[in-house]
Formats: sequence, structure tokens, C-alpha cells
Amino acid sequence: MSLSVSISLSLLVVVVAFYYTQTNSAMPSLAAIRASNAAFFRSKPAPSSAVAANVPTAVFVGGTSGIGEGMALTYAEHTEGKSNIIIVGRNAAAAERIFASMPSPPADIQPKLAREFVQCDATLMKNVHVASQTILSRYPKINYLVMSPGYSTLVGRDETPEGIDRKLAVHYYARWKFLHDLLPGLKDAQEKGEKAAVVSVMAAGHGGKIDLEDLGLKKGYSLSAAALAAPTYNDLMMESFAEQAPNVTFIHAFPGFVRTSLGSSSPSPTLRIVSPSCSPSLVPSPTAVKPGAWRVGSKGEDLGMKRHFGDEVQRKKVWEHTVEVMRAALASSSAGTSKAGSRNNNSTSTLRPDIV
Ligand SMILES: NC(=O)c1ccc[n+]([C@@H]2O[C@H](COP(=O)([O-])OP(=O)(O)OC[C@H]3O[C@@H](n4cnc5c(N)ncnc54)[C@H](OP(=O)(O)O)[C@@H]3O)[C@@H](O)[C@H]2O)c1
Repeated sequence: MSLSVSISLSLLVVVVAFYYTQTNSAMPSLAAIRASNAAFFRSKPAPSSAVAANVPTAVFVGGTSGIGEGMALTYAEHTEGKSNIIIVGRNAAAAERIFASMPSPPADIQPKLAREFVQCDATLMKNVHVASQTILSRYPKINYLVMSPGYSTLVGRDETPEGIDRKLAVHYYARWKFLHDLLPGLKDAQEKGEKAAVVSVMAAGHGGKIDLEDLGLKKGYSLSAAALAAPTYNDLMMESFAEQAPNVTFIHAFPGFVRTSLGSSSPSPTLRIVSPSCSPSLVPSPTAVKPGAWRVGSKGEDLGMKRHFGDEVQRKKVWEHTVEVMRAALASSSAGTSKAGSRNNNSTSTLRPDIV
């Protein structure tokens, strides 16, 4: 089995595992994962003709490369093309290549199922706003939201015109904004009796304590501070959204080490040099999860509260801080550059000065 398929299966299982109601913290084999993935998709009734509205819709933010690409491809294979698939990122050519290698949507389902690229530089919240409103206007029902945008750099704090550090923007703020804006679509799926799940591929179990006086890391930025804050913010983000949508599944996942372009595409020469010599290792495992907020480790295990930082007060503070950051970002004068991508693209989204 190739590495990419291993990666895909291991992470796909995170997306679909919540269908399984039993909890099981033991690590299953790759064969078990493949079997459970296959069984899940076999158990789903195939969409018949003229029911395009009933097929699932999956959004992959960061689906143009690496882990997100693997998840998107595996999802497409298991659904045999019977899904709307939206990839969000900057690299349109990569998205086209990925769509071309997916199974084609069945011709008898009308209107034709979407393979849509939505271009978005997620370092700017204005772009995320436009992209998510574009997606929601076209797909009011969203079943899966997978977020794996990654940015690896050894550079210190690097602010966008909106005043947010680029790395934190990609690893946290943009994810919060996508999730915030697309939540109505996830709720719609759930209210229709369908499955709805969110996966943020980051670093569950690898976060640290946070500084309530400097949540934006404007004063105390360091590579380690940013690396410890983003996973904790992801944890707290998922918990906050799970409170708002208790019937949706929210998973913060740590993938383990996976050889992707994360290092080789880094703006930091050191990381570009080091990355090809790193060996991939990933042992997958289906962790059975129900609606709610989950933290999943590199072996698919339920991390529970292991290396969890932040209590209810901190969760609230992080939420309020994020809302404030979003307000400031959207009110700032930087120009959004998001545009809809290569297929079915007539964005009618308008930028609102608020976030709700
Ligand atoms: N690989 C690992 O070993 C590992 C380990 C632990 C955690 N993780 C985390 O897992 C996540 C995925 O990692 P990966 O290895 O799959 O990374 P990757 O192969 O480098 O892919 C990163 C994705 O993020 C997108 N992206 C980067 N900057 C963006 C921006 N400004 N706006 C929009 N999209 C952007 C890229 O798309 P475009 O280029 O099209 O914009 C690409 O699709 C990351 O958050 C990473 O920190 C990875």
C-alpha cells in the first residue's frame, strides 16, 4: 500500500468514524480501517438519479496538497464520485489535477455534481469570508468540512495587512472563520437527518498553556509559543462550536509525521532542506466518535483530555478574542483577493463589515 493511500485511509477514517457508535480506544489495524471505511460506504444507499440535492457535500480547505489531498481523493473513491466536492486553497492547477484523478460523478444525477475549486489565500480573513459565503450560497447543505491548511516557517511573527500572524492565521483564525461561516450548512445537513462532521488536522495533544493577556501573540511571539498556542486554540474552538451545534461531530486531529510538501514548500530554507530526509510514519486507527468535540491522536486514538489546556473561562476568552480579531480584520482596509475557482463560478458573495 502506498504512503498516500495509507495517509488517506487513516484520515478518512476520522471523517467517517463518527458513524460508528461504539467507543474503542484500542488501535486497530490498517486492514480494519480499510474494512470499516468500505463497510461504511457500502451501507450508504447510492444516490439515484434526479436526487442531487440528497448527495453529500464535502469541503476540503487545504485539499490541494498533502493530507487534505489524500483525504479528498479517498473520500471521492469511497463515494464513487457521488458527492459534491469542493477544494479550497490557492493552487488552482493542483485542484484540477486532483479532480481529474477522482472518479467522475455519475451522469444520471442532475444537476451535475460539483467538483469545484474555490481560490482563497486563507491568511486574510476577508478572503475566508468571501470564500465561505461563496460556498454556502451554492451549497446550503454541507456534510463534511475538512481543514488542513498548513504553513511551515522558521520566520518569526509575520503580520498580514489585517494584523494577524500568517502562521496563526492559517493554523487557527482561518479555520475558525470557515467553521463559523459554514456552520449553518453543517446544521442543515444534520437537521435533514444526514451526517455532519468537521475535522481540523492540526496537532491535538501537542498544545500548551495559553496567555490570556496576549492571545494574538503580539507581544510574546516565538516559534514555540505559536506552535503551542495553535493546537490549544483548535481544541477550544472545536469545543465552543460543539456547544453551538451539539449534533455535529467536531474532531481536532494530530496526524503524526506525514511526508508531504509542508516542509519543502516552506519559505524557510532550513525546513526545505531538512524535509526530504524525514521519514513518514503514520499508524492509522478508527476511533469511534459521536457528535461533540473530539481530540484524536496519530494512531486514531481518542486523546480524551490528555495534554489539554484551557478551562471554560479560557475557552470563552479565546472565543471573544477571536471575534474581536475577526471584526478588526474585516473592518480593515486590506483588499480581499478570494475568487471562485474553475467550475460553476459566479460568485455573488458580498463582504459584510461584521462576522455574524
Ligand atoms: N505533515 C505532517 O507531518 C504534519 C504533522 C503534524 C501536523 N501537521 C499539520 O497538518 C496540516 C496539513 O499538513 P500537510 O502536511 O498536509 O501540509 P501540505 O502538504 O503543505 O498542505 C498544506 C495545504 O495548505 C494549503 N495552504 C497553505 N497556505 C495556505 C493559504 N495561505 N491559504 C490557503 N491554503 C493554504 C495548501 O494549499 P495551496 O498551496 O493551494 O494554498 C495545501 O493544500 C497542517 O496544519 C500541518 O501543520 C502536519
